Amino acid sequence: KDYRIATIPGDGIGVDVTVEACKVLDRAAALHGFGLKWTEFDWSCERFTETGAMMPEDGVAQLSAFDGIFLGAVGFPGVADHVSLWGLLIPLRRAFAQYVNLRPVRLLPGTTSALAGRSADELEMVIVRENSEGEYSELGGRHNKGQPGEFVLQESVFTRVGVERIIRYAFELARTRVGRVCSATKSNGLIHSMPYWDEIFAEISAEYPDVHSEQCHVDALAARMVQQPERLDVVVASNLFGDILSDLAAAVTGGLGMAPSGNINPPGEYPSMFEAVHGSAPDIAGQGIANPVAQVLAGAMMLEHLGETACAQAVRDAVEQVLAEGSVATPDLGGKSTTAELGDAVAAALG
Ligand code: NAI
Ligand code: MG
Repeated sequence: KDYRIATIPGDGIGVDVTVEACKVLDRAAALHGFGLKWTEFDWSCERFTETGAMMPEDGVAQLSAFDGIFLGAVGFPGVADHVSLWGLLIPLRRAFAQYVNLRPVRLLPGTTSALAGRSADELEMVIVRENSEGEYSELGGRHNKGQPGEFVLQESVFTRVGVERIIRYAFELARTRVGRVCSATKSNGLIHSMPYWDEIFAEISAEYPDVHSEQCHVDALAARMVQQPERLDVVVASNLFGDILSDLAAAVTGGLGMAPSGNINPPGEYPSMFEAVHGSAPDIAGQGIANPVAQVLAGAMMLEHLGETACAQAVRDAVEQVLAEGSVATPDLGGKSTTAELGDAVAAALG
């Protein structure tokens, strides 16, 4: 069987890490008796600079028939960040109803981060971020521009359908894991949206008496993630809170270079999209030193989503083997290897 995958390498290190990840995934697939048929799209800030658009007008339609979308990263100096986000990522996430952003967090060997040295079992969690509404909204605007009374309004949108489905997804996921869900909230400060979120969380948790549930203010949760992450497993959060918490969780475990994510359409009606948590890293772009592990692990999430569980596990095992062995490591891991050397090592570790 062949899977048809759309790949959008994007900008900066997105391009470097995607090449390595595709190499690893191709080898893993071949060893497991299936193929990945890649179709590459040059949608990026570079394209924006040349044509005025991140992607063609029928971009969504072009991707809709694929089994999965594999994205590097978009964003580059000189092109405002909201252009790359609202011109590509957000339209795709919304058109394909990828309302779950799944960000598994694991303490990997070879890590130089804050929590390095703890046992990996203590630190195994997954952030379930709402990916289609919430604080990332176009509603609002700037008023009294240039006058002393100038102000902006930025509204959030929390729909019942949107909040229910993300929280339910978190509880279902918890059932397949250790049965714990923590909801990130801030109902003391955000007096409309977060109490509503809390109310729905309470309703749904009543449907899952077998799952331990708790809620935690997002600021306290951020501290807890650093100081006492042991009792966290599934963390469910709104779009903004989930975005921040997942970068934090990535930073304290493996670093941004090792954190994958999936934009999931749970019913499977539309393609899901897999990417690293990190961005295009202009500070190291073009130097061949980006860590490809996050993108490789994003590929493993894609294989898992396609139902190729054994192959996905083989990819994760190969990554861990190379990191534990430690002789091939990019600069962010304290080594001197290149992106391609680390990619080659992981591909070789597949057997
Ligand atoms: P970033 O994640 O690109 O970089 C943050 C820091 O982490 C930099 O010092 C970078 O060198 C380092 N880093 C990131 N990934 C790494 C890797 N694989 N190996 C080694 N070091 C790594 O975030 P930043 O600098 O805030 O954003 C840069 C651009 O990326 C912006 O234009 C932003 O909008 C875009 N971006 C795009 C995302 C996406 O495509 N989904 C997500 C986040 C940011
Ligand atoms: Mg982010």
